Amino acid sequence: MVRQWNQWGYVFLFFLLFGLIGSAVYFTIQMMQVGQAAIPQKEFEPRYHFVLIPEEMDNDYWRMVEKGAQDAARDFQVFVEYTGPKKANVDEHVKTVEKAAAAKVDGIMLQGLSQTTTPLINRVVDNGIPVLTVDTDAPESKRKAYVGTDNYYAGYLAGKTLADDTGGKANVAIVTGSFDAHNQQLRVQGFKDAVSGHEDIEIIDTQESNITRIGAAIKAHKILNEYPEVNAFFGTSSLDGMGIADIVQRFHEKREMYILAFDMLPETVEFIENGVIDATIYQDPYEIGYRSVEIMLDIVQGKKVDTLNPTYTKAVQREQLKWFKLRKNQDDVP
Ligand code: BGC
Repeated sequence: MVRQWNQWGYVFLFFLLFGLIGSAVYFTIQMMQVGQAAIPQKEFEPRYHFVLIPEEMDNDYWRMVEKGAQDAARDFQVFVEYTGPKKANVDEHVKTVEKAAAAKVDGIMLQGLSQTTTPLINRVVDNGIPVLTVDTDAPESKRKAYVGTDNYYAGYLAGKTLADDTGGKANVAIVTGSFDAHNQQLRVQGFKDAVSGHEDIEIIDTQESNITRIGAAIKAHKILNEYPEVNAFFGTSSLDGMGIADIVQRFHEKREMYILAFDMLPETVEFIENGVIDATIYQDPYEIGYRSVEIMLDIVQGKKVDTLNPTYTKAVQREQLKWFKLRKNQDDVP
């Protein structure tokens, strides 16, 4: 009797176990299906993995470059990863580039920031990963191409604009993003060369903002307190003009001041509309991002590319703003 019960007991246990395993398998399959449905299907299978590394990720100017790059990524079916320091930091920039190279991505698009960038680019290229410089070139490196503003020309244009607008008479202070950044050095040099023929234009002081609006405001405040003769400013990176305008508007409203900015971020445009900023040097961050991806794709596919790919630059005053709002392409701006 006891023996018979044992036999039935084993049979019962066998079915119980079978049932339990069966349900576990069934529910796991169900869950996997739910997981699959929850993950959005990719629009396409990317052919290449490119990385875009700016000097500062959370910067409105760089977000526009990113937007252009992501639109191109969709159009050309590649994956673009946007990564880098949250706030400008050269060491972190270098580390991000090294990480991307170690991950053996298909191409790296980076800013040719300073002296240290050239050997870094060369190491990456020697390891078989193509590099393209974006916004700031590193002409002596092994980068395959450069996409962005001709920064010397942009600085020269700034100098010419200031000279024309002030009738060739001004005591100028320059607030620049960074003394070490190659694009900022070129903009300052171009500016100085353009005003050098005007004997009544004097450059009184040059300070560095660390590409922050608050940094630019602090430096502008210091300059205005130290040099009562300063009556014009040139801010050479995208947040400098705003920082200068903040201080002039708040503490030096009665002082006649000419302000020349860089880039056309929305708040710069507002300052121009309100007459606080007199002019800005427009560059095309969206186009820079878009073209970078397009050109990197040509490079990895072995096509021939131009080494220098300058993008559109223009001095913009209040009268031109409406054209920029209407414009479909650069030829629409008079
Ligand atoms: C420059 C970038 C820089 C940015 C800072 C732009 O004008 O082209 O290199 O990172 O300003 O806000």
